[in-house]
Amino acid sequence: MTANSLEGLAGERMVNDTPQAVADTVATWIGAQSRRAHADHGSFSIALSGGSTPRLLNEILVGPEWRERMEWSWWNVYFADERACPPDDPASNYSLAETTLLSHVPIDPGRVHRMPAERPDLDAAAAEYSDLLARSLPSGPGGAPRLDVILLGLGENGHTASLFPGTPALEVTDQWATRGLADYEPFNRITLTYPAINAAAAVGFLVTGAAKHEALRATARGEVPASRVRPADGTLVWFLDAAAAAG
Ligand code: 6PG
Repeated sequence: MTANSLEGLAGERMVNDTPQAVADTVATWIGAQSRRAHADHGSFSIALSGGSTPRLLNEILVGPEWRERMEWSWWNVYFADERACPPDDPASNYSLAETTLLSHVPIDPGRVHRMPAERPDLDAAAAEYSDLLARSLPSGPGGAPRLDVILLGLGENGHTASLFPGTPALEVTDQWATRGLADYEPFNRITLTYPAINAAAAVGFLVTGAAKHEALRATARGEVPASRVRPADGTLVWFLDAAAAAG
């Protein structure tokens, strides 16, 4: 694989040798983004993703180095997507965040905004989340609510958040959150839409493991949902380990 195989990937690439080093780098980046946001408007908003990759990051954030150093009182937590299951189900993205991060750090539970994807009417739940985003965040490019940071993962098929290939969610432009449809269980989802993702001040993708290399290449070629993540007035950073970067 040549060093150029990811040429075309929009944004900045930060490659570290191991997943652990990637997670350390992301923790440092989040700290810097939170200071920037706080200096600018006195608070910090971040949307979290699910999947397995955030586990290591969360471990580091609640560990001795970061637990005391991070200004948790600035944090307002949102989600990039959620699976249709109860919030205490192990498949829930909120459950992952709660058990591995939120319950270990002093974040006011009133500042944690989970997506209520356990509700039977997912369209209504997504519409409510869309309103919550609009009400609680400053307005960014195109009038969309502007999150300070969105952390995203990348699926092997090039999905990100719950924006899956060939699904209607990819075309939604009049809501900040919508219903998503995954190709693995739980199938039903709520996801941020492109206008909401692309209005963020900073978007960070965490991608580790050789199995993700082809998805990165497809993203670079503009072929998959992750290719359309292009912050309109913000930064985009790909945090990769050597295996994901090189294949
Ligand atoms: C979800 C996610 C999803 C995830 C990717 C990568 O709820 O499934 O938010 O977009 O980030 O599928 O998942 P892994 O980290 O498990 O590879």
